[in-house]
Amino acid sequence: MDRQLLFPERSLPLIFEPVEPEEKTLVGLVNWIQTNREELNDLLVHHGALLFRGFPVWTAEEFESVARALDPDLKNAAYHGTAPRNSLTDYVQSSVELPGYYPIPQHIEMSYLKNKANRLFFWSMLPARNGGETPVTDFRQVYRDLPAEVREAFETRNIKIIRNYSGPGKKGRFDLLQFKGWDEIFHTTEKDEVERQCALSGTTPVWKKGNSLCLINDQSAVRSHPDTGEPVWHNHSQAFHISTAVAEYRRLIKYTKKPALLFYMLLAGAMNFIQGMRKSRDDLALHCQFQDGSEIPDSYMEAVRDAIWKNTVIFPWQKGDVLAIDNHSTAHGRMPFRGPRKTALCYA
Ligand SMILES: [Fe+2]
Repeated sequence: MDRQLLFPERSLPLIFEPVEPEEKTLVGLVNWIQTNREELNDLLVHHGALLFRGFPVWTAEEFESVARALDPDLKNAAYHGTAPRNSLTDYVQSSVELPGYYPIPQHIEMSYLKNKANRLFFWSMLPARNGGETPVTDFRQVYRDLPAEVREAFETRNIKIIRNYSGPGKKGRFDLLQFKGWDEIFHTTEKDEVERQCALSGTTPVWKKGNSLCLINDQSAVRSHPDTGEPVWHNHSQAFHISTAVAEYRRLIKYTKKPALLFYMLLAGAMNFIQGMRKSRDDLALHCQFQDGSEIPDSYMEAVRDAIWKNTVIFPWQKGDVLAIDNHSTAHGRMPFRGPRKTALCYA
């Protein structure tokens, strides 16, 4: 089995490719992972992301068997995030069903929930012809690269995550960031059941007029890695702050050199303006503040994005790729794309 850094100057991902004929089969890969699981676990903690490329992983069941070889403790509890997904097996789901022009900023999956995933496994069923990469970012390095003033402000003031959802059958019109109603988040229309699930994940539900629901999560901005004790930038501010869409499109235009994204940047700016006129910040589909309810300065959010983009590694998918991510240290996102693209994930 050949292993090397995908980019010599970047610490992630570490890529594994088959060399011997027996390594080029699914059974060979699964056996090799099981034999070397302990070392692979150490490498995953050290590098944050491992990429398995050139192996015959063509079905969701085959992907699940590779992920299970890496971590036998796969989970399939209900997903309480904002993005639409579909199940492919009991444990594998489509990673996101959002339109290709939506930028998905780098984030640690469910960083604001008590019961977040330890590890994520992504699988490329069909790479997009144009874009659609799943970038990875070492959030330990992001923590180290932040200006001291910004880091201290976040560490001492912590973060309040705000998500608002309409009730059953009333998915938000005129709001590009409201992808689901609360019944779709919690897979129930019973408020008691919603409150029970919220208690498990450390979420405060606030029922509002019109049967809508606000979900509040207080989170620290930084956490220690459970295996190494290293400090990690570990929060969703860069994904949920109201300034995010415009700021991400600005950077994406610079990176991709695609002026067509300018249209979406202007659209996102206009939607923010309309939402700002119609709603208080507590009623926005997605937003975050310091924990005391005061607004995070835009300059702080820009410093956070600069540190994230500086440490983000972007590489094209190949069909059959499996990417394992340490969800305690390493963020993922999605680049805009055109045409068909299919990516699935499972988690442990
Ligand atoms: Fe995600």
